Amino acid sequence: MTTETAEYPSLYRTIYARRMSWNFTDRPVSKSVIERMLDAAVWAPNHRLTEPWRFVILEKDSPARIQASELAREAIIQRTGNEERAEAGRSKVLDPPYVMYVYCVPGPDDETTRENYAAVCCAAQNISLAGAAEGLAVTWETGGVTRHEGLNAVLGAEDDWALVTMLLIGFPGDVPRARRTAVSNFSRWFGPDDDCPPEES
Ligand SMILES: Cc1cc2nc3c(=O)[nH]c(=O)nc-3n(C[C@H](O)[C@H](O)[C@H](O)COP(=O)(O)O)c2cc1C
Repeated sequence: MTTETAEYPSLYRTIYARRMSWNFTDRPVSKSVIERMLDAAVWAPNHRLTEPWRFVILEKDSPARIQASELAREAIIQRTGNEERAEAGRSKVLDPPYVMYVYCVPGPDDETTRENYAAVCCAAQNISLAGAAEGLAVTWETGGVTRHEGLNAVLGAEDDWALVTMLLIGFPGDVPRARRTAVSNFSRWFGPDDDCPPEES
């Protein structure tokens, strides 16, 4: 264990409290909190311990953040031609206290590459939950603002890395209402007295 965890809230409470937000307050987030969240990230499960995650953290007002926000703007202009949406995309990248790009490196074969991707998703979820335990919102973005061919160069990412998600991190301003369908709609149980479903012919 690399971090003292005794004072943190229970895992279940954190899972249900976690929410994404697209509107952050100006309250600064300390770098040590981000470091703690990153430390939690790499304790994700990882078949073959390939450690496939790569994290690029952009502090507020860093030249890389400003460039990434311009690329986000450009990407939306190219796709939609809509100035207003492009400006909103630029602000999305520019404004939060921290922005983190989470990448996955490929494996030597398709199976390992798929497993690596799953492990990096687990790592990003660890960051989300650690953030929730810290009172932060960690918001996943995989849309237009992340899709500019020049982004990897600005972030120093290798060409064969896959971007898993961009995370916007800060204290939430407002939080959209959360909703989920009861899990019973998506699950099937088999007990000792249950037959297997008939085989498809
Ligand atoms: C893989 C992944 C990609 C996502 N990409 C986006 C995105 O591009 N834009 C967006 O608005 N939200 C994105 N989200 C956030 C979801 O919209 C969000 O999880 C959903 O609204 C439920 O909110 P909650 O996580 O606060 O319960 C993404 C979430 C995941 C897991």
